[in-house]
Amino acid sequence: MKNIILIGMMGCGKTTVGELLAMRLKRTLVDTDKLIEAREGISVAEIFETQGEGYFRSLEMGVAQALSLRDDLIIACGGGLPLQEGAMAALKQSGVVIWLDRDAGDIFDGEDMSGRPLAQAGREAFLERAAQRAPIYEKWADATIHDFTSAVSTAARVKEAVETIASWEENKGGEGI
Ligand code: S3P
Repeated sequence: MKNIILIGMMGCGKTTVGELLAMRLKRTLVDTDKLIEAREGISVAEIFETQGEGYFRSLEMGVAQALSLRDDLIIACGGGLPLQEGAMAALKQSGVVIWLDRDAGDIFDGEDMSGRPLAQAGREAFLERAAQRAPIYEKWADATIHDFTSAVSTAARVKEAVETIASWEENKGGEGI
């Protein structure tokens, strides 16, 4: 079955929602940041600090291309991964892309932003980054989720969206999701 790929701003809940989905759908969750951290043996924040963002993005590209060769996964993408055309194009080919479009102000006010190097410049900068990225997330998304009342309800909305897309695909005679 195809992969389910979660995209959206840092802190929007991709990993938490991905964990719930993985349990409900009996699939494996892969978080691109965690995979990079496991391979490098240091945190994402340390990679940014010691090697710079460019190096992190090259690791992200490699991970995206490797994961795009697999199937049946839930993939929680780092928030900046969709900015790299080659990384996201490869992943999109392997599955269905769901954008968790949570309000950036709610994220910044409600989530722990420590350990996220690109969220350290304050609320305004975070909102601006989110606004700049929105068209890019939108471009890649097969479906967009707006319900963030709880992680459980967000996961349920993602599952519904995936099932709807799967039924369209089946009607077209395509592979199931
Ligand atoms: C980033 C998001 C982070 C991580 C890195 C850069 C971004 O992932 O990949 O700090 O550019 O938005 P999360 O979205 O999991 O926080």
